[in-house]
Amino acid sequence: MPPLLVRDLAQVVSPAGSGSPLRGSTLRELEIVEDAYVLCEGGRVGATGRMKDLGPLEVDVVEVDGRGRAAVPGLVDCHTHACFAGDRAAEFALRAGGATYEELHAAGGGILSTVRATRAAGEARLAAAVERHRGWMRAHGTTTWEGKSGYGLDRETELAQLRVVKAAGGVPTWLGAHAVPPEFDDADAYLDFALAEVLPEAAKLAKAADVFVERGAFDLGQARRYLEACRDAGLALRLHADQFTEAGGVSLAVELGARSVDHLEATGSEGVRILAASAVAAVMLPVAALFLGRPLPPARALIDGGAIVALATDFNPGSAFCESLPLVMSLACTQLKMAPAEALAACTVNAAHVLGRSDRGRLAPGYAADLVLLDTPDWRYLAYHLGGDHVAVVIEEGKVAWER
Ligand code: NIG
Ligand code: FE
Repeated sequence: MPPLLVRDLAQVVSPAGSGSPLRGSTLRELEIVEDAYVLCEGGRVGATGRMKDLGPLEVDVVEVDGRGRAAVPGLVDCHTHACFAGDRAAEFALRAGGATYEELHAAGGGILSTVRATRAAGEARLAAAVERHRGWMRAHGTTTWEGKSGYGLDRETELAQLRVVKAAGGVPTWLGAHAVPPEFDDADAYLDFALAEVLPEAAKLAKAADVFVERGAFDLGQARRYLEACRDAGLALRLHADQFTEAGGVSLAVELGARSVDHLEATGSEGVRILAASAVAAVMLPVAALFLGRPLPPARALIDGGAIVALATDFNPGSAFCESLPLVMSLACTQLKMAPAEALAACTVNAAHVLGRSDRGRLAPGYAADLVLLDTPDWRYLAYHLGGDHVAVVIEEGKVAWER
């Protein structure tokens, strides 16, 4: 594959520094180079700098015209449920009429209605659904994404979900503890099955395990049991916690050395303090909060306290039917009072850290050559234009993967 040269860019923008994850004031430090180029070689960023410093190239290169465009690192979506069948449009309408997410869940709808559709789909149709969703994400600038299971909750479908995410280039997470499926009397009986029958194979496919700690899902003791078994099988740990109620998920995450705790809409000041002093990333999902009409997570307190923060879509058919990280960045700036630079770092270098992919999320030599070219010379339009669409070209591993 010949090198790819993106030339004459109005701006090349990257989170500054070389370490990850970023915390506190370093989260808003960007490196912005104007009238610049990015040279991609062997799927990596080979060099980047001012056009005037670009020397003669010794080999033939493929050129991409960057005039009038800003380049940012490919966006990293570290929390999605992109592998599902069916939809929840009818439930969406019911919620618009006043029904709550928790009521629908308790009545056997919600997550369990997607479980029925996903079980019935079969692996080929799941693969087609993930390809479709992957295309939507890419058109919004996402080049690295996580995909959870959790809509099978039986052996065959959970493993099929993980295989399908992996085959589509996603980072698979086993969300084996998402809900208790109807064939089990209680959460403990379901966990007996999941840990004995699914974990051994899931651990070979997934990079991480995840659990939904919530009233009506899994309590703290059950989450501990699940996560300890997954950790012993070699998986990184993540938690859905403090979405509706604060039930101790943050402390458990810190105690077990989890990668992240995600949601945090109900997290109070003690939870913020614990997270800020820890190595556990706080993944905020503002679309899910707004989609369900819930309070927003305490972003400013987390950042100012020094916590590791990331942003993600939570793309799923029930609580966040939205694959757009630019929209998430807009919400972060308008609702969570994050600076555009903080939102960018939270969707690139810090999100990559959550996925254990520290080779992604910056436009600097040695990083994966994943970049997004915007049809505007000012990168801030990515967040500034609420619901706007400025992604013009998506480059993955040094190849043009999508063009408007
Ligand atoms: O992150 N809260 C639990 N899980 C998902 C929702 C999944 C669904 O509603 O299908 C979430 O919001
Ligand atoms: Fe989620």
